[in-house]
Amino acid sequence: MAEDGYDGYAYAYPHKTSYRPLNPQVPLDRAWHLEDKRNLFLYVHLPFCEMRCGFCNLFTTVQPGASLVDQTLAAIHRQSEAVAASITPEGIAQAAFGGGTPSFLSEIEMEHLLGTLGRTWPVRWHDIPVSFEASPGTITRDKLALLKSLGVDRISLGVQSFVAEDLISLKRPQPAGELERACHSIKAAGFSVFNIDLIYGNAGQDAKRWQCSLDRALEWQPEELYLYPLYIRKLTNLDRSGKRPGEHRRDLYWQAREFLLAAGYRQISMRLFRRADVIRTTDYCCQEDGMIGLGPGARSYTQSLHYSTEYAVGQAGVRMIIENFNERGSASYASADYGVALDPSEQKLRYVIKTLLRAEGVSHSSYQRRFGSSMTDDLPQLLDLSELGFATESDGCLRLNEQGLAWTDTIGPWLYSDAVTARMNAYELA
Ligand SMILES: C[S@@+](CC[C@H](N)C(=O)[O-])C[C@H]1O[C@@H](n2cnc3c(N)ncnc32)[C@H](O)[C@@H]1O
Ligand code: SF4
Repeated sequence: MAEDGYDGYAYAYPHKTSYRPLNPQVPLDRAWHLEDKRNLFLYVHLPFCEMRCGFCNLFTTVQPGASLVDQTLAAIHRQSEAVAASITPEGIAQAAFGGGTPSFLSEIEMEHLLGTLGRTWPVRWHDIPVSFEASPGTITRDKLALLKSLGVDRISLGVQSFVAEDLISLKRPQPAGELERACHSIKAAGFSVFNIDLIYGNAGQDAKRWQCSLDRALEWQPEELYLYPLYIRKLTNLDRSGKRPGEHRRDLYWQAREFLLAAGYRQISMRLFRRADVIRTTDYCCQEDGMIGLGPGARSYTQSLHYSTEYAVGQAGVRMIIENFNERGSASYASADYGVALDPSEQKLRYVIKTLLRAEGVSHSSYQRRFGSSMTDDLPQLLDLSELGFATESDGCLRLNEQGLAWTDTIGPWLYSDAVTARMNAYELA
């Protein structure tokens, strides 16, 4: 365990660094034939940004130039058609455009992308939750109006901090006024959900500076706030310049939690807070339903296979993966060639990790219905969480308590199987 308890963000399990080339490749019609395909999640990854922020290790390339963007969008369309033809989807229940920075696209590109996807997949964007990630420097009022008219109902804005000193420390330069302009435009466009991403814990950020960011965020009354503890990840600019996160991340977490609960937000997970009056429903269930990822860098999940393109952080590696993706013939998108298989015990672990790390907790009877066995017989380590004071049992559910939620980034990785941990540790990042 890391000394300060920040071992890792269990956003997905198994982690992508446990993926490897699949030999033999798995045809998608076979990978998906036993899946329930009525409530799928469609995720589209746009790996482009204006600049590489100092903390960011996401799969993205900066200043790609018009021809690389054109080629990638054309490849995404070919992939989309090949995948849809292979897996015969019955319904898309939720969608997200992430990256990178999807708002990097021009209006014409956005309209074409959502238009062609809407004709290929069984979806009406206006009928389902559709999220779109944006950075302050790339959105305009016209883009926002277009996205709203196409059916996007959630804009997620990467703010990171409202304080100039933090943005300098995070190596995320942002011209003065750009943030306010972006927030103002999003509010004026009237999306159902405006989410603000903030990062806390750079070494120079004290409680006062953090409070200033939180106050400024709440001025926009966002429906959601994602608060990310800073991680210094390998090969990032902050890592190369020897920066370390501050030792006070947990203090800043408690400060924000207390403030947001008092301001009328509900805690959904360690990172996500939602305004109490906001209800966002979806038929997609992240533990049960599959995810279709389109674009280089996107991951796809069935119950027993998780797959994607290869992953890199360095510019050369990322470019090569995007170019390889763009050069593929249509037929090659219909097979998975890089990923990880989940045997029944990994499927159970994934179910628990995806559920337990959210405030609502994991229901014993739902687990029993899903797997036909008892959760604590299968995963006796869960009993330790209650004994250690991180979880409680109530209403037939095991739930992380206040302490447990605060220690999510230790509890998640602690639950990973030895096999997945070994694969992650052996991974060499390029
Ligand atoms: C998919 S990213 C992209 C959003 C958008 N491209 C932008 O930055 O404006 C989602 C969020 O993850 C968070 N994040 C990324 N890397 C991080 C790191 N190393 N430590 C903490 N949070 C991080 C940031 O808050 C970021 O906005
Ligand atoms: S944080 Fe967002 S804008 Fe910055 S490099 Fe990462 S994906 Fe791009």
